[in-house]
This record gives sequence, C-alpha cells and structure tokens, in this order.
Amino acid sequence: MESDFLIIGSGIAGLSCALKCAELGSVIVVTKKRDVDTATNLAQGGIAAVLEENDSIESHVQDTLSSGAGLCDESIVRMVVENGPARIKELVDIGVGFVQDAGNSSGYSLGREGGHSHRRVIHAYDLTGREVERALLNKVRNNSKIEMFEERIAVDLLMVEGAVPGWRAAGSQRCAGAYVMVGEEVEACRAKVTVLCSGGVGKVYLYTTNPDIATGDGVAMAFRAGAELSNMEFVQFHPTCLHHSLEKNFLISEAVRGEGGILIDGEGVAFMEKYDKRKDLATRDTVARAIDKELKESGADYVFLDISHRDKSFLEERFPTIFQRCLSRGIDISKEPIPVVPAAHYMCGGVRTDSNGCTTIPGLIALGETASTGLHGGNRLASNSLLEAVVFADRAANFCKKHWSNIKTTDIPEVDEWKSGNAMDLEEEILINHNWDAIRRVMWNYVGIVRSLKRLELAKVRMEGIFKEIDQHYHDYHITPNMVELRNIALISLVIIQSAQLRKESRGLHYLADYTQTNENIEQTIFKRKKDGKKWEIKTIKREQE
Ligand code: SIN
Repeated sequence: MESDFLIIGSGIAGLSCALKCAELGSVIVVTKKRDVDTATNLAQGGIAAVLEENDSIESHVQDTLSSGAGLCDESIVRMVVENGPARIKELVDIGVGFVQDAGNSSGYSLGREGGHSHRRVIHAYDLTGREVERALLNKVRNNSKIEMFEERIAVDLLMVEGAVPGWRAAGSQRCAGAYVMVGEEVEACRAKVTVLCSGGVGKVYLYTTNPDIATGDGVAMAFRAGAELSNMEFVQFHPTCLHHSLEKNFLISEAVRGEGGILIDGEGVAFMEKYDKRKDLATRDTVARAIDKELKESGADYVFLDISHRDKSFLEERFPTIFQRCLSRGIDISKEPIPVVPAAHYMCGGVRTDSNGCTTIPGLIALGETASTGLHGGNRLASNSLLEAVVFADRAANFCKKHWSNIKTTDIPEVDEWKSGNAMDLEEEILINHNWDAIRRVMWNYVGIVRSLKRLELAKVRMEGIFKEIDQHYHDYHITPNMVELRNIALISLVIIQSAQLRKESRGLHYLADYTQTNENIEQTIFKRKKDGKKWEIKTIKREQE
C-alpha cells in the first residue's frame, strides 16, 4: 500500500487530520478494530472552548495552567485555547449536533467540569464523542481521497535513510510509513507523512475507563523507532468510574459533578471539602487522590457519587446514557447514589511534539492522546483533550500544506519485506493472557495514584522479567494482533515506571510518597531509545535546556 499520508487511528484526531490532509494528497487511514472503536466514541463530557461572552481566553488559559501544576508550555496553552472557537465552528459546519440553548450568548448549552472557572464545555448530552465521531466518519466515508482500512493493526514504523523538508528534527533516518497486519500477513504501508493518533495507554492498568484498543501502540512504535517520549509518568485517573461487577469501564462523566453531583462516603458524608476548597469541582488529580485516601482509610471498595437531589426528568435528559446504563444495573440515579472508583483514564505524556504535532522523527506526526504537546503539563484539565486533538490536527495539516511542494516530491523508497524467519505458530494463548493480566495487576498495585520508590522498584524488577519474556515470544512465534498489543503494553509499562522513578517530586498526577514536595529542577522527563537499540536514554530536563 502507498499513499501521501498514512494515518494510524480513527478517533477525532485521525479523522480531523485525514479530512484536512485529503486536500493535499491521498490518505490511507488504518485502524486496528472497527472505525468506531475509539476512545473518542466513548467521550462523554465534551469539548472545552471559550464560547460565551462572559468567559475569556485568559480564564481558560489560567485554568489549564493551574490544572497542569506548573508543567504546561504556556505558549502552547494559549495557541490551543485561542484556536478553540474556530475548531468548534468547523465541527458544527460538518454537522456535529451540539446541544443548543438559546438563553446563552453562544447559543449552546455549556457544561462545567472540575478545574474550570466557567461553564465552557460544549456537549451533545453525555454522548459527545459518539456524535463527533459520527459526523467525522460520515465526512471521511464520503471523501474519495481517503481510504479507510479496518482490522489492521500497525506493528512498527518503517524507517529509511533521509530527511523530510520542513522538519526541525535532525537525524539520519525518517519515517516512511508502517508495517501493518493484513490478516495473518504483515505488509509495508508506505507514505510521505505518517500520523500516529492511535489513542492512549489505559489498558496498561487493571481498571480503566478506556476501550480495549488503548494499548499504547502509537507511543510504543514511535519509541522503538527512536522518537522522544516525554512526561510518561503523568497518568490521569478519572475519579468516577462505575463500580459494578458486570461493568468493565463505564465512566460517570465529570459533568455530573458539574451539575451538582457530590462525592460521599459509605455513611453518606460528603468528603471533598476536607481536601480542596473547590470541593467536588477540584481538578482530577486532587479528587482521585482524595477518593484513594478515603478508600484506603475506610477499607471500602468504592465511594458514592450522589446526584439524586436533581429532578429525574433533568437527569434523564442531560445524562441519557449514564441514566439508562445505571438503571440497567439496578441503580436509579434520581433516587440513590452511584458507586464509583477511580480508574486509569488519560495519558498526559506521550510522543514529544512541537507546536505543529511534528515529532523528533522527520516524517512522523503524533496527535491526540498519543502526543505530548505541552498542553496538559502534569494534569490535563477536563475536556481539553478533544480540543487538543482538533487544534493539533489542524496545525499538522497546515504544516504539511506549507511545506507540501517539497514534501510531495519526497521519494517513497522500496522497503524490506517483513521477515518472519523461523517463527512458529503460537499454540498456547495462555502465554499471552497470563502476561496481560500480570502487567495490568503490577501497574495497578504498584504504579497507581499514590506511588513510592519501593513499589516502583518492585514493579520495575517484575516488569523487566515480563518484558524480556514477551520479547522472546515476539521473536520465536508468528505475530498476532494480541501479541503486538502485549508487546506494546509491556514497553509502555516499563517506560511509565522508569519515568515515575526519575521524577523525584510530587506534582499534578504524580504523587511520590518519598518526595511530597515539588522539585523546580525537573520539567520534563524524556525517554529515548539509544542508537544501538538495546539501551534506553532517560533524563529530566528543564525547558530552557532544550
Ligand atoms: C468526562 O466526561 O468526565 C471525561 C471528560 C474528559 O476526560 O475530559
């Protein structure tokens, strides 16, 4: 397969970028399951943007910086927030049905979430992601320049010698596409520009709000190809995932707290005022840590989120999915509180990019949760993620447009075919399943909301053993999509652990019991594979050292 652009992932970042890049050249989108199997599709809350007359860019900027715990790149924050209204208008123009409210100066109903000082989250009730995905897919499916291939997992990036015009990054190699599984075979998918937007890493943890696709594939592939990763220790835990034996990852949106939901303990006592003056609308790092503390102290398995003081008709209209899903589990949220627990939700770090989404590898762009752009710092502000995805998709496409006359002449060389060597068929799936389970438990128990150097070291030792074993399987057996994902979550787990060990401070989402203060000498943790491929280079830097 060959195209001008290869886009890996079909969420909001990938589809938005595909539509814009299609104005320049041919686009192939590959996605490892069905096109709708994305984190975007599950997003409930909405998109934060300054749309009301009584709101301001400065206020959104300050809320983002404050949530990011001193680690955001302010110029990126300003750029993203300033671009927000224009990107929302584009979504409206392609048919996204955000909920309207004639009583607001914007004409739209706006929700509130933790850390925001204004109501500024535009939404489609609690189905925002599904609505955005629907509208984007509709456009993509009707665009003759874009081909979408489902059930094709990317295995590794295709690297060749050479440069790509316009790229700031210098290196002897550039990205020229990816190896992609087509059935049981692995095929080279060659492209002038490759865009990684395959989502986050939530499946590294036992409990997550993420869909099954969130196995860090983009981050792992970029790392193996030599790209820099940054701030991978900042895993955001969403405070309120539904606790029910039959539910795996059902989120209770932060918008529920925005509409008055209160966190209470098993005795019915509200507890957030003990932790933050913003109470239930404090930022996510604070709320998740507070719940973790309450659970550890009481020995309970969950706390409750109570919104039963609001009218049933309001709840049914504002939160149709949450209302029905809880009811199907025997919980009438208009009458009783909802049992909730924190769960891994969002990776704030990722593949390090510049303000156009360009990574440190020429020819390779990273967008959405796969990327670390400098927007989120140490803790992403609620509903800034879909915003980041659309803004950076636009920036990346504009970057390619600016340099297109040069990029389009980039030669796409023939590449080596995938070699399976003497690999055998894997006959025992237990080799995969056991390690999946082991990794996710180690990460949940040792690398969770509150960390300690001792637990991190234990996790590292265990993960190094598992990582080695998986690497061996990878070389001994024919690869399968499950094995590709397992190899990726093993790598990502090790990177998270070692990044967490490196950040000897507590800040934002990273709380290290041995170092409870902030350390002004650390801004970013950087991870990179060394040239010989065997060793990893890890360091912390202050931004001015770049
Ligand atoms: C939510 O609806 O609570 C999730 C929104 C987000 O992760 O920003």
